[in-house]
Amino acid sequence: MDEHQSLLNEQTAYYRARAPEYDQWFLRRGRYDRGSEANADWFAEVTAVRMALSHFHPDGDVLELACGTGLWTQQLLASARRITAVDASPEMLALNRERLHSPAVRYIQADLFAWKPEERFDAVFFSFWLSHVPPEQFDAFWNMVAGSLKPGGRVFFIDSKYEPSSTARDHRLGDPDDDSILRRLNDGSEFRIIKIFHKPEDLRKRLDGLGWTADIRQTPHYFLYGEAKRAS
Ligand SMILES: C[S@@+](CC[C@H](N)C(=O)[O-])C[C@H]1O[C@@H](n2cnc3c(N)ncnc32)[C@H](O)[C@@H]1O
Repeated sequence: MDEHQSLLNEQTAYYRARAPEYDQWFLRRGRYDRGSEANADWFAEVTAVRMALSHFHPDGDVLELACGTGLWTQQLLASARRITAVDASPEMLALNRERLHSPAVRYIQADLFAWKPEERFDAVFFSFWLSHVPPEQFDAFWNMVAGSLKPGGRVFFIDSKYEPSSTARDHRLGDPDDDSILRRLNDGSEFRIIKIFHKPEDLRKRLDGLGWTADIRQTPHYFLYGEAKRAS
């Protein structure tokens, strides 16, 4: 197996093992608790992104890629008629199902680097996933997203800004231009994964080159988020 595939396998293994402790990151608990001031910034910025998603109003048939434990699937459910939620990790999918208990959500366990949609959607959503797509697969990933959309379909995505306090106290972010990062679980086990900190303007230009019109924004410290649609 080549080095690239083994890094992708390690990334999948990391998220499978991390599933039961994943929400600690989002909820700023344990190793992710950065003190009241930084936590308050975090939660205020989460609220700002949640408001932007609410304003985007993902309705109709929605596809969520790399859905994880359902921290955002739950919000999609407020406006979507039906959600198809895809993730490689059965552990993540089980937690998502437990959180939502919704007949409106269909789950698919699949590797997004091999998966092809069998239908088209009104909206595609992915959070904290694009940063884990290796540069070599960036174009193919966005082409797969394009192939998932009905005519006039829209995309909303959220991702991380380069900010040391966004991750655990025992993680080092490394150089902002590195493509991979070392992550640790609560039991001390270590995994190397892809992590790319996209810069909004570079990302917008890159998407423009692939035939997308994107509007990308950022919160003061932690998040970037964007809407994209096929340029007409
Ligand atoms: C950073 S988490 C984001 C989860 C969720 N979107 C959220 O914001 O809470 C990344 C997710 O990608 C999934 N994942 C990792 N590699 C994958 C792959 N090759 N195909 C599909 N999902 C993958 C993981 O299982 C995990 O749920």
